[in-house]
Amino acid sequence: MSPVRIGVMGCGRIGRMHAELISWQVPNAEVAAVYDVVDDASAELAKELGVRQAAEPAEILESDDVDAVAICTSTHTHIDLLVAAADTGKAAFVEKPLALNLADVDRGIAAAEAAGVPVQVGFNRRFDPSHRYVRDRVAAGDLGDVHLVRISSRDPEPPPLMYLDQSGGIFCDMTIHDFDMIRYITGSEVTEVYATGAVLVDDAIGEVGDLDTAVIVCHHENGAISAIDNSRQAVYGYDQRVEAFGSAGMSASENPLTATAVTRTADGAHGPTLPYFFLDRYIPSYLAEWDAFTAMMQGAPSPVTLADGRAPLVIGLAAWRSVHERRPVRTDEIG
Ligand SMILES: NC(=O)c1ccc[n+]([C@@H]2O[C@H](COP(=O)([O-])OP(=O)(O)OC[C@H]3O[C@@H](n4cnc5c(N)ncnc54)[C@H](O)[C@@H]3O)[C@@H](O)[C@H]2O)c1
Repeated sequence: MSPVRIGVMGCGRIGRMHAELISWQVPNAEVAAVYDVVDDASAELAKELGVRQAAEPAEILESDDVDAVAICTSTHTHIDLLVAAADTGKAAFVEKPLALNLADVDRGIAAAEAAGVPVQVGFNRRFDPSHRYVRDRVAAGDLGDVHLVRISSRDPEPPPLMYLDQSGGIFCDMTIHDFDMIRYITGSEVTEVYATGAVLVDDAIGEVGDLDTAVIVCHHENGAISAIDNSRQAVYGYDQRVEAFGSAGMSASENPLTATAVTRTADGAHGPTLPYFFLDRYIPSYLAEWDAFTAMMQGAPSPVTLADGRAPLVIGLAAWRSVHERRPVRTDEIG
């Protein structure tokens, strides 16, 4: 099989990482070209990878040597690029969140459906071996009926304020991964959301209308309850734990450590800390995500569909309404 040729749009933190992984570690894919509105960003990455630098999106979208695009640009640009990809018949990988409002998401879904192009959304945590193990135990029935899902998801440091300002805030930027995970683990849609939060890390986060600390409780169609806690600043590293608890037992994904060594002294035991952030913690999941993408390009169903991209945004918007109105919000109030 010839490699899937991918045009990478957006050469920031995550676009650069995807382009490097595709180039160096994904057997059935290669980067054909890169594009960024900031010329220097794409020039540097094109040089590093020895690939073509596109001067504008059309140079990727209309190119015969590109099979698919990876949309890794700032969130508010995802849907226009997805629609442009669909209009030119290109398959797409789109980073999360799809957009920050449902009208845009639905515009993207309509364009992709009309064109019949395969699309995968970038919810990489579904491909993390430990989180997937928990989900597989649930799906196999090993835990009986699932009653509770509990997620702790804490970043080591807040993103730059400029990023936060256009990110959709904590629920649509950060917790959206956890909203995806609770759907994935339980296999059940969320019906009601109660969210609360605070600004405890950095006042500047509050000044842009955002929160840095939050707790969210979600009710699912099948009766299960999920509880998520988030912080934008865990001083000990990137803390990512998922637990499912059911009538026949529990299954939990623990944090991997940066090493397995331990020091013991008269004062007790001391071990290595957690991986620092997503680029350290989730590389296996990003690689598996690209393997799944290449399988989709061979005809397998999308492993993370546009509908899977839409549902967590509904939950995120419900969470914001819940905070603003200080009440539980049903997801069918949102759309
Ligand atoms: N799945 C994950 O683990 C994960 C992790 C981080 C970020 N993300 C998502 O990826 C996206 C990018 O995040 P980031 O951290 O890389 O941000 P970033 O700010 O580091 O990079 C965004 C890049 O997109 C470029 N850009 C903006 N508008 C563009 C346009 N119209 N055309 C081409 N390039 C454009 C910017 O110049 C910048 O280089 C966001 O939607 C974010 O939510 C996903």
